[in-house]
Amino acid sequence: MNRLGKLVFGVFAAFGIAWTGLVAYPILTFAGLKQATDEASGDLVPPPKPGVAEQGYHVYAANGCVYCHSQYVRDPAEGADIDRKWGKRRTVARDYIFDRHVFLGNSRSGADLTNLGVRQTDAQWYYRELYSPRLVHPETTMPAYRWLFRTQKISGQASDDALKIEGPESPAAGFEIVPTAQGKALVAYLLSLKRDYPLPEAPEPAQ
Ligand code: HEC
Repeated sequence: MNRLGKLVFGVFAAFGIAWTGLVAYPILTFAGLKQATDEASGDLVPPPKPGVAEQGYHVYAANGCVYCHSQYVRDPAEGADIDRKWGKRRTVARDYIFDRHVFLGNSRSGADLTNLGVRQTDAQWYYRELYSPRLVHPETTMPAYRWLFRTQKISGQASDDALKIEGPESPAAGFEIVPTAQGKALVAYLLSLKRDYPLPEAPEPAQ
C-alpha cells in the first residue's frame, strides 16, 4: 500500500470505529427498546406520560432543574442510591423510552428525582417547594420559581390550588397565589416521576 492508500485507510478506520461505537452500537442496542409487560398487573411499562405531564417535561427542561437534580438510580455496587431510598432498583435504558431528551443530570446538589412522584403525592407540597423552597428546607440553595405562580384577587371562593402559606410570604388579605398553567404542568410532570414498575433486566437487589 502506498502512503496515500495508508492515509485514506487510516482516516476511514478512525471515523469508522468512532461511528460504530457512537452511532451503530447505541442504535442496535437501544433504538428498538419497547415497553415490557408487568406480569403481576398485565400493564405495559414504562407507562407514557399522562396528559399535561408532557408539557411539564418541557417546563422542567426550560427551568434548568437538570443542573441540580439527577434522574437515575445506580446499582448498589456503584453507589448508595437505593439505600438513600431514591428507588428500589437501578434504572436502565428502557425507563426512558418516552423521553425525547433524557434528564440524567450530572450534579446532585438536590435529591435524585427518578421516583419523586412515589415519595411525594400531594400537589400542594410541590407548589410550596417551587414557590419558596426555604419553607420546606430552611437551609436550601434551591432557587424559588416565582414566575410559575401569580397573585390574584380572590373573587368569590378561593381557588382549590391556591398556595397555603403563612407568615411574611403570604399574600395580602383578599388575594391568593396560584400556579400558572406552566406551574401546574410542571407539578403534573413531577407527580408522574414513578419508575417503580418491575423490568426484567433490572431486578430489585436482594436486601
Ligand atoms: C441550584 C440548584 C437547584 C436547582 C436549579 C433546582 N433545585 Fe430543586 N433542590 C435543590 C436542593 C439543594 C434541594 C434539597 C433541599 C435541601 O434539603 O436543602 C432541592 C430539592 C428539591 C425537591 C425536593 C426533593 C425531595 O425529595 O425532597 C424538589 C421536588 C425539587 N428540588 C424540584 C426542583 C425542580 C422541579 C427544579 C426546576 C424547576 C429544581 N428543583 C431546581 C437544588 C436545586
